[in-house]
Amino acid sequence: MVAHSGLLTVMERAARKAAPRLRRDFNEVQHLQVSRKGPADFVSMADQRAERTLYDELKKARPDWGFLLEEGGEIEGDPDKPRWIVDPLDGTTNFLHGIPHFAISIAVEDPHGSQGKPEITTALVYQPLTDESFWAEKGRGAWLHDGRLRVSSRRNLDEALIATGIPFLGHGNFAQWSRIFGAVAPEVAGIRRFGSAALDLAWVAAGRYDGFWESDLKPWDVAAGLLLVREAGGFVTDFRGADRAMERSEFLAANDTLHSKLHKLVAGALRNR
Ligand code: IPD
Ligand code: CA
Ligand code: CA
Ligand code: CA
Repeated sequence: MVAHSGLLTVMERAARKAAPRLRRDFNEVQHLQVSRKGPADFVSMADQRAERTLYDELKKARPDWGFLLEEGGEIEGDPDKPRWIVDPLDGTTNFLHGIPHFAISIAVEDPHGSQGKPEITTALVYQPLTDESFWAEKGRGAWLHDGRLRVSSRRNLDEALIATGIPFLGHGNFAQWSRIFGAVAPEVAGIRRFGSAALDLAWVAAGRYDGFWESDLKPWDVAAGLLLVREAGGFVTDFRGADRAMERSEFLAANDTLHSKLHKLVAGALRNR
């Protein structure tokens, strides 16, 4: 059994506390109250209840830390202390359609990271229906329960399975996504759009997917997943290949060989406009 830090114990306890209610809500999804934040951006009582439980548990454990919550927004804490970045339910559209593919994502952001900039140091992506717990700590690797994760070792595009997120009503850049899709799809073994960016990245870390691209994501969608990929030995950049994925909200993730091959296709697609 691999011992993770006390912080991860706190995070996992919070996720496991929120999970039973999420599972119950999922089984009774037709009775859930749902509203919209945008044209096709839904939020339900399940998102809100899960966030409340996570907030209460994390707050109890570290009373002076701040929060960035998808539904509740920013809650200030001690500016010298880390903050929690929480997506209580990543994959709401799946959830509301009875599709069993969604996760809780929790990350810890240290305001004074190794280069003096804010940095994600601890990550958990927990899938309530499969009880899979993907976790990572900066410098200590990425794990699924107590098994070490490595990104896939495939080197050829013609055997690579790539995940993506497709823009939808009121969200994202269709023209850009279509150009990238047009360049990547004919070269690879398959493309998947399963509807949870947090799980997409966790599955890249686990070597299930060989790569991933998406843009216009929020910090709570990706904060935990990015650390998972990097700690599993993967590369994450923006679409130009620069280390500015978060700033530009463009995410291209894969092992080093496939990353450079995918990056060539993506860069070519964006150049030939
Ligand atoms: C969504 C998922 C999805 C991505 C969307 C996100 P939510 O998060 O991560 O895969 O394509 O852009 O908004 O709203 O289900 O937490
Ligand atoms: Ca949402
Ligand atoms: Ca999300
Ligand atoms: Ca969400």
